[in-house]
Amino acid sequence: MQKIRIEPGKLLRVEGPAAVRVVDGEVYVLGVTYGADSKFTVLRARKVIVKPLRASILEITLGPDGSVEEARSDEEVIDVWEDATSRIELQGITVILGAMDVGKTTMTVMIANKASRAGHRVGIIDADLGQNDLGPPATVDAAVLEPGTYITHLRMLRPVKAMFLKTTSVERVWPEVVDAVRKLADYLMNVENTRTVVINTDGWISTDKAVEYKLKLVESLQPRNIVIIKRGEEVDQLVKALREKYPNNPPSIVELPAPPAARIRTKEDRRIHREMGYGKYLTPPRDITLDLRRTPIVNFPICTGMPANQDLLNLIRRFIKHPITYCELVEGFMIAVSSHQPGQDRKDVEILNLPGGGKIVLLPPGWERGLLVGLEDRDNFLLALGRVKKIYYNNCKIVVTVSRNFTEISKIDHLRLGMIRLNEQYEEVEKVNYVGRIEALLKRRGGENVQ
Ligand SMILES: Nc1ncnc2c1ncn2[C@@H]1O[C@H](COP(=O)(O)OP(=O)(O)OP(=O)(O)O)[C@@H](O)[C@H]1O
Ligand SMILES: [Mg+2]
Repeated sequence: MQKIRIEPGKLLRVEGPAAVRVVDGEVYVLGVTYGADSKFTVLRARKVIVKPLRASILEITLGPDGSVEEARSDEEVIDVWEDATSRIELQGITVILGAMDVGKTTMTVMIANKASRAGHRVGIIDADLGQNDLGPPATVDAAVLEPGTYITHLRMLRPVKAMFLKTTSVERVWPEVVDAVRKLADYLMNVENTRTVVINTDGWISTDKAVEYKLKLVESLQPRNIVIIKRGEEVDQLVKALREKYPNNPPSIVELPAPPAARIRTKEDRRIHREMGYGKYLTPPRDITLDLRRTPIVNFPICTGMPANQDLLNLIRRFIKHPITYCELVEGFMIAVSSHQPGQDRKDVEILNLPGGGKIVLLPPGWERGLLVGLEDRDNFLLALGRVKKIYYNNCKIVVTVSRNFTEISKIDHLRLGMIRLNEQYEEVEKVNYVGRIEALLKRRGGENVQ
């Protein structure tokens, strides 16, 4: 433990893990003032700037890899951030946009703290699928910060509602992310009565598609404020598009610089962050068995159709030219599970045209093992994440590993299959694209039925 005396005009940069107690004086941290005898913590691998409002004495206990250093005030963005965020109207929706590692999560915390300090009940949504800090990867989560309570990181809150987005690659599911964020914002405002909602987003920002996504998100949310954190020219195209979109009645658009000393996460750091995320929500493990006829997989219609009769099986076996374990006719196409492991080069599913018309989806044996799966309630909110262990076709049972802390089994209405395969150590071993292909097939089939 060390005692540090700090005068106004100087700044401290504390890297966690660290526990800080204000012995005397008053310091400003992330939108909040901490007076004598108050405490805050800084989590591992996070940096927080501490600004003394008068001469202060701090007691700092550092964990492994924690550090304290003086920050140069002319390089720090704390005053610019504070000044700009003081001028925005905190009631309503505020969306934070910016590239990777520019401080979006930090800004989300700062605005939430300020609103809490102003006496508001604050809703927070983390819409960053890859680097989610409120909930597990591949989800969008909502939490509530009660008035008068403060945090230094989103991880300190527990989500009150979540939605499963199947993958950490936002570019594959962004229209669904737009809907999920809208739904969670409605939940926070209508059910949790939070009139302030702060939304953290992902760093996918500079391609045409990314700009289209962010514009759609803004269009759907109609936020009061858009806070954009800039580093170089990464967000220029988006800012231009936003200003063109709202020439007359714009939401307030606040452009702010990124902190120059921000910690840049490597790809490896990001992967470890995700894997710790899966581990946290899937352990301690326990297996549950569900009946797929009663609890279907909504985006993968296995065990929802009619098992093929012997004649059909023989026909299909002849056509495919190798044995199959299971085959069923779902609305519009057939699904079969092969007992033959394809070669290394052909691990994926095959979608074949049958000679008499129609399609057959041929899955390799064990196709389901390790897939991330969402256990959802009847409103499509996520109850828990799971990892698929096995499907038994003879009785349509699925075994899923979930956390033992998950107890709301009676609320499970259906499952949603993810596009990520995890091994038993919860490491990401494969991005599975056939879930997307089957969803596309289902959608097309839905379209055909309508016509
Ligand atoms: N003023 C600052 N000075 C130094 N480091 C900072 C400052 N503000 C934030 N950081 C650190 O920079 C890193 C990136 O910040 P943050 O996580 O808020 O950014 P992000 O845009 O949300 O990143 P990601 O793309 O990973 O979600 C974090 O380790 C954070 O603690
Ligand atoms: Mg972030």
